[in-house]
Amino acid sequence: MSLVFYSLTDDPQPWREALARALPALPFHVWPQVPAPEAVHYTLVWKPPRGWHRQFPNLRAILSLGAGVDALLEDPDLPAVPITRLVDGGLARQMAEYALYAVLHFHRRMPEYARQQRARQWRILEPNAVEDSVVGVLGLGVLGAEAARLVAAAGFPVCGWSRTPRRIPGVDGLWGEDGLAALQRRARIVVNFLPLTPATRGLLDARFFSRLQPGACLVNVARGAHLVEADLLAALDGGHLGGAMLDVFAEEPLPPGHPFWTHPRVVLTPHVAGITLAAEAAAQVIQNLRRLEAGEPPQGVVDRSAGY
Ligand code: NAP
Ligand code: GLV
Repeated sequence: MSLVFYSLTDDPQPWREALARALPALPFHVWPQVPAPEAVHYTLVWKPPRGWHRQFPNLRAILSLGAGVDALLEDPDLPAVPITRLVDGGLARQMAEYALYAVLHFHRRMPEYARQQRARQWRILEPNAVEDSVVGVLGLGVLGAEAARLVAAAGFPVCGWSRTPRRIPGVDGLWGEDGLAALQRRARIVVNFLPLTPATRGLLDARFFSRLQPGACLVNVARGAHLVEADLLAALDGGHLGGAMLDVFAEEPLPPGHPFWTHPRVVLTPHVAGITLAAEAAAQVIQNLRRLEAGEPPQGVVDRSAGY
């Protein structure tokens, strides 16, 4: 029995140490140093290549190093074993901070003040009233709900959209097509926390933007493929949207020639809204490995039919 770690972006060392302390009988290998693929029962992974899992014939579970599992589910050769994902594991606080920062950025008209600074222009702009800065959160799951709570606690009116009805104190819960239309009418700042599934891919397109009020702003912290990038550029350049703060992109790293890098209405970060930290997330992975070894169902199992 052994576990294989695969990630091009996460350091295996803190994971190795945490798992060795908690589960000393479970050998920990970092791909590609895997002495006996047939002994591998578990993988701990972030974005392994398609078909990668086929080399482990006796796999019992796939443990994701992240909350979103879209990249795993896109693999047509993924073995039919349970997949667990991170359920918060330290991500929720980080993501909620990012959302609050983005809301304050647009609410306090920081993009316009940044433009004025570059032009050495000293001009006082009319402040936005907090009741007008309605925040619409797409996705009220573990991460979206935490962000919605934090933004509401900061005094902003918040509505949120989910697939099934969700009740969160201080947040106007919406669902279904009518719910999305209501969010689009009301929100001045839309923050995307949806998982990437066939139902949500490309949701943030020209039609979506045309239903937002003029000057509305977009924050995307979910996945790049939710967004039709050309449609966002057109909505920004045409003046219908006021600005965008983007953490995720169709292609990552964002290619050097991409127009987002230099667009005056775009602020971007390199997929850092929520970073998996072994110090906070390992406990959840260890608990799931213990459950699996005891023949109990793990927590945070992905519903493959729903796609998240
Ligand atoms: P989650 O707990 O599974 O929540 C997903 C939410 O989206 C749920 O409220 C769900 O509705 C809703 N939803 C799903 N499909 C929908 C649809 N078709 N229409 C309307 N609502 C829909 O996921 P999470 O843990 O909050 O994570 C959300 C996403 O954040 C991840 O999938 C990942 O892509 C992204 N993420 C990004 C970063 C980063 O650094 N940028 C870090 C971590 C995660 P129900 O409540 O009805 O199920
Ligand atoms: C990061 O994007 C994650 O899904 O955890």
